[in-house]
Amino acid sequence: MADFESEVLETYCPPVPLPPARRLRWFRLLATLKRNPLECWSDEFFREPIVKVRLPFTDSVIVHEPSAIKRVLVDNAGNYRKDPIQRRILASGLADGLLSAEGERWEMQRRTLAPLFARRTVASFASAMLEASERLAERWSALGPRATIDVAAEMTLITLNVLARTIFSDGIGGDYDQFRVAMNAYFAVIGHIGALDLLGVPQSVPRPGRRRLRQTMAYFEGIIDRIIEMRCRRLVGRPAGEAPSDLLTLLLRTPDPATGRPMSRAEIRSNILTFLSAGHETTANTLAWSMFLLSQASQWRARVRAEAARELAGPVEGLADRLIVTRAVIEEALRLYPPIAALSRVAEAADTLGGVAIRPRSLVVIAPYVLHRHRLLWTQPDLFDPSRFLPERRAAIPRFAYLPFGVGPRICIGASFALQEATIVLAALVQRFDMELAPGAQVWPLQKITLRPAGGLPMRLKPSVRDVQPALHCRTQMG
Ligand code: HEM
Repeated sequence: MADFESEVLETYCPPVPLPPARRLRWFRLLATLKRNPLECWSDEFFREPIVKVRLPFTDSVIVHEPSAIKRVLVDNAGNYRKDPIQRRILASGLADGLLSAEGERWEMQRRTLAPLFARRTVASFASAMLEASERLAERWSALGPRATIDVAAEMTLITLNVLARTIFSDGIGGDYDQFRVAMNAYFAVIGHIGALDLLGVPQSVPRPGRRRLRQTMAYFEGIIDRIIEMRCRRLVGRPAGEAPSDLLTLLLRTPDPATGRPMSRAEIRSNILTFLSAGHETTANTLAWSMFLLSQASQWRARVRAEAARELAGPVEGLADRLIVTRAVIEEALRLYPPIAALSRVAEAADTLGGVAIRPRSLVVIAPYVLHRHRLLWTQPDLFDPSRFLPERRAAIPRFAYLPFGVGPRICIGASFALQEATIVLAALVQRFDMELAPGAQVWPLQKITLRPAGGLPMRLKPSVRDVQPALHCRTQMG
């Protein structure tokens, strides 16, 4: 167990846009939304619990009052549907997947997919996560001392690699780089928010870039269908014990517990794409921000390294649970730079939130980025201080003040997968490398689908002192 002495550790104020003193006017608002939506949040949003904003076609209500958030996302969640822009951005082309489904179709998928992300199943992926970290560390070591790398791009690679290992443990049977390039192209198209979206013009009106999106989707669907086909042939007649133990086998073999119906091929394909798209950029950004924050806070870096050295020498079973300081750093990075910076819903019927009347079709926005820095909810909200998330203080954080994974029926299904992955990868890499920001690098948060460092995160690698010795590795199941 880690020791939690009450020493006062350094705190650091990481880069963040200074909120404008007044609300932006319409034209500036549109231009800023297009450039970097984070820069739109003026001072009042960080101070007021609920703010109403009139848009040309609808009312919009920005909610950061915990009991009103509970009403929107939990108690009266049936009245608040995901809004079309968010669904398009997060789940474009994944019509049959969990992220974008609604109503009965969503309920059926959520029930069926829940066992895939249950605690025991996620724990069984720890070895794959550690193996992927070891491979990355070996590649970094081969670059030689003081190599400069783009940590943001490297984290995208490792999270995609972890998903590939946990979804298709026997490989994707094709060109991995080509797969990655197509994935990036897909994100570039769906990440584009045009004026038509901002003005609330219906999704049935054609948007630029749709043809490119369709081509990219067709490419993905082709690859995934081939992999599913191969796996189905492999599984025929095999008992459960002999099947590859990964998410694809579970998708093919887990029926809906309520009806016994297995998922259709289209649903399986859409959910694989959903896991890949919802799971890799978000976790990659969490890791990139955590590494950046640690590079600026040497005492926390030293604590994570000491914990990693101690715990990685033990068994892989229960590893993520033992990495308590590392996990606190990850949670603090998720507070300061939540990858999903804003959630939005549309009210179906009239409602009241914190005394404010909500009309049908109003847009309700809950922005974790603002919520996590709200002046009424946090002390010194702009400081990097992972001790907020250490066990002795964690319970004091109000449940509805911290929502990196959302909350309620539509809470992120991959939350424990992502937390386990980020904790293991961060510990394994910090144990082996000291990372410092490349000279002249400017770090700035940019919201483009996910909240990422604008222009990447160039850092210089230096093997940590212990890495000069033969590395001590956690015992993985693979030996
Ligand atoms: C640090 C990493 C991650 C963050 C911050 C994150 C964040 C979120 C958030 C905020 C939502 C709720 C959206 C809403 O209520 O409108 C969500 C939903 C979802 N996430 Fe994640 N996510 C992460 C990792 C993952 C991973 C690894 C997977 C899968 C492998 C995943 C799959 C999903 C799915 C399928 C949904 C939709 C759930 C539903 O609607 O029932 N996410 N995520």
